[in-house]
Amino acid sequence: KKTVRDIDVKGKKVIVRCDFNVPQDKEGNITDDIRITSALPTISYLIEQGAKVILMSHLGRPDGEANMKYTLKPVADRLSELLGKSVLFISAPEVVSEEVSKAAAGLAEGEVMLLENVRFRKEETKNGENFSRELADLAELFVNDAFGTAHRAHSSTAGVADYLPAVSGFLIEKEVKFLGSAVEAPERPFVAIMGGAKVKDKILVIENLLAKVDTLIIGGGMAFTFLKAKGYEIGKSLLDAERIDYATELMKKAEEKGVKILLPIDVVAAKEFSNDVETAEFEADAIPAEWMGLDVGPKSAQLFSEELKNAKTVIWNGPVGAFEMSNFAQGTIAVAKALAETDAVTIIGGGDSAAAVEQFGYADKMTHISTGGGASLEFLEGKELPGIAVLQDK
Ligand code: 3PG
Repeated sequence: KKTVRDIDVKGKKVIVRCDFNVPQDKEGNITDDIRITSALPTISYLIEQGAKVILMSHLGRPDGEANMKYTLKPVADRLSELLGKSVLFISAPEVVSEEVSKAAAGLAEGEVMLLENVRFRKEETKNGENFSRELADLAELFVNDAFGTAHRAHSSTAGVADYLPAVSGFLIEKEVKFLGSAVEAPERPFVAIMGGAKVKDKILVIENLLAKVDTLIIGGGMAFTFLKAKGYEIGKSLLDAERIDYATELMKKAEEKGVKILLPIDVVAAKEFSNDVETAEFEADAIPAEWMGLDVGPKSAQLFSEELKNAKTVIWNGPVGAFEMSNFAQGTIAVAKALAETDAVTIIGGGDSAAAVEQFGYADKMTHISTGGGASLEFLEGKELPGIAVLQDK
């Protein structure tokens, strides 16, 4: 796809879709600004090149209402701090107002403005033509750099490209490079670690990766459906009874393809989903009836870490235990540590595993941490993302 590098932006009004959907505390303070810092290379480039920069994003799900709980004002403030220059912000409930259009038209080269939350308009998530056109009318070029929202076909991510030449920013370029090359041309051995609570959420990713990886490590809540499929006693552990047959079939398929599957061999368990109750370790095939596995045990952590030591490419999507509770974080910490210590290309597929790597202090040891949750999952499923599909080809 074409990027901002491939077009002349000097003196042009450029509307840039970012994913500034950042977590906030109750007072509205931004608690993690990685999505803002990840957008800086594109924004700074456009400023340096003398473009007139109009930024847009959504924040949360205000459902078409101008609910000030979801204003992008805190993002504008953080962005001006990071850029070291003022970012014009007009909190128009209709996003594009007369005042906003005037301000956009009056931008000088290198100046930056941020529009209000595009989801204050109900047309946004419906990819409404009128709203797409209103956004497009503000500018001469469209740059999409919102990887985290690239799986949505909305006015600001896709519709606007019907009316303006559209290219990608550096963040989308980087995400596609790392996630794409890992999947298409990985250095081997190629290991994928799949975790998280639900089998259902990961089925398509597993199917897609099964054709590519050498080893598939399965942890997290979803592992118990696989253990059950092997005929193990899993006690009260999370089970997707409808997908036991699927798990059986998948393990068979893996065997046919020569893909090694590693499941937990021991677990850390409790009688309730809580950090305040007694814990115990059990072999993965003998979890007593009233116990539930909430993390992989130390032997599994060792097994997984050994496998990761020899890997040359690793993709990690989903924690291997309920790491938000300290009693069940050791497995996920062990995986993060093993990844930090290998010289393999390590790619963290966004969402919870990105949060875990950050929380345990290994973020700067990873090759790439995706800013996409749902978007990186769909990318790894092999789907074409609408926000990328609309961009011009090279
Ligand atoms: C995300 O956080 O995954 C993206 O910003 C997309 O948000 P959405 O799921 O509300 O579309």
